[in-house]
Amino acid sequence: MAEHKVKDVSLAPGGRMKIQWAESRMPVMMELRKRYRASRPLAGARIAGCLHVTKETAVLVETLMELGADVAWSGCNPLSTQDDIAAALAAAGVKIFAWHGMSVEEFYWAIERTIEILKPNLTLDDGADLIFTIHNKYTAMSRSLKGGTEETTTGVKRLRAMAQAGELLYPVIAVNDAETKWDFDNVYGTGQSSIDGILRATNVLLAGKTFVVAGYGHCGKGCAMRAKGLGARVVATEVKPTAALKALLDGMSVMPMDEAARIGDLFITATGVKDVIIGRHFDVMKDGAIVCNTGHYDCEINIPELRARADSVREIRPNNEEFRMKDGRRIYLLAKGRLINLAAAEGHPSEVMDMSFANQLLALKALHEEAARRAPGVYELPAEQDQEIGRLKLETMGMSIDTWTEEQRRYSSDWKAGT
Ligand SMILES: NC(=O)c1ccc[n+]([C@@H]2O[C@H](COP(=O)([O-])OP(=O)(O)OC[C@H]3O[C@@H](n4cnc5c(N)ncnc54)[C@H](O)[C@@H]3O)[C@@H](O)[C@H]2O)c1
Repeated sequence: MAEHKVKDVSLAPGGRMKIQWAESRMPVMMELRKRYRASRPLAGARIAGCLHVTKETAVLVETLMELGADVAWSGCNPLSTQDDIAAALAAAGVKIFAWHGMSVEEFYWAIERTIEILKPNLTLDDGADLIFTIHNKYTAMSRSLKGGTEETTTGVKRLRAMAQAGELLYPVIAVNDAETKWDFDNVYGTGQSSIDGILRATNVLLAGKTFVVAGYGHCGKGCAMRAKGLGARVVATEVKPTAALKALLDGMSVMPMDEAARIGDLFITATGVKDVIIGRHFDVMKDGAIVCNTGHYDCEINIPELRARADSVREIRPNNEEFRMKDGRRIYLLAKGRLINLAAAEGHPSEVMDMSFANQLLALKALHEEAARRAPGVYELPAEQDQEIGRLKLETMGMSIDTWTEEQRRYSSDWKAGT
């Protein structure tokens, strides 16, 4: 076994079965594995990854290795690692440093361990913590790295800000922004798995409840659609006029959080911004209100302001803390304000991660195969890759679609044709 630190390696057999289940639901990844197995296009790649340790991530890690890469892994959130999956990876010889319930110090220790043990020439991030650690503590390495990939909206935003400030030292591909990632993983994946997390932590009936979604972007829309489908009355809060309009025309109510706070039974934040639910909102919430987050970091709900208003706090069931306010009202905070779908459930279903991780794989392969290193910056994936992944996914689902005739192809770019 390679060097690793996980909770308990004896959990490996159970984790292995979950990985095999994920493989059976990820046909695009399995097809790419088959396609590139013999040529080993990632030979010579040393990939440090910092991404939620789930069964789908395990399929990605093992595919990278089968294609020739040397890999070291850490989790990208202290509460999202699934210990049986980490154990199965460790037992399979992966250099992995991840366990559920890490402290913040342990979280950064694990990232640094992957860097030191592997000396990566490529990175894979979800939230950009690995990239920041390399920039801050291993600056010389960031000047020689071939490149990296970024999985999530918050990470891409941070990297674009870093590039704009002239501080980004190596090229990074924004996997999040691929159509086959952002429009599927964030919408359908986060939508379903966040509801799954809420139900596992509470088992409440959603029908008839007022369900407040903060942020009607990709993730927020997914949560709203699924809650509506289960019979909830959905309220969206927004800062962007066009996003608010989309929510309205999708049949949601729209209002500021100051109003929504008074009427909501459940609240979920999906903005990528801090302090979306703060003290004055807790002051007016109903007795029994449930609050959670599905954005990348745990700062969307101001937990210190909630704690300051509470007389007592107790864990009433796993991932569900009851805060008893000084006036007797009870507010329930799920999963300590961390991503509800990963902390209280299993993250996105395999079927949707199939496309996200196919993008990751092809992005890393492209960076590795390029003869010359790209200039530092944030790059998009080619649109043709989206269509190729979409085509493969449809094929594996047994679906076929129409194709343009030659006549239609010509017409589509014929600027002279009118009425
Ligand atoms: N839980 C998961 O598994 C998961 C998956 C993908 C992305 N994410 C994370 O979820 C967050 C949202 O990602 P996205 O792809 O939906 O981003 P997005 O940009 O599509 O949507 C965010 C929305 O929030 C709105 N917003 C910003 N500040 C707000 C505020 N103060 N009040 C109300 N609305 C506000 C924005 O106008 C935007 O419409 C990010 O942090 C992302 O990294 C989580």
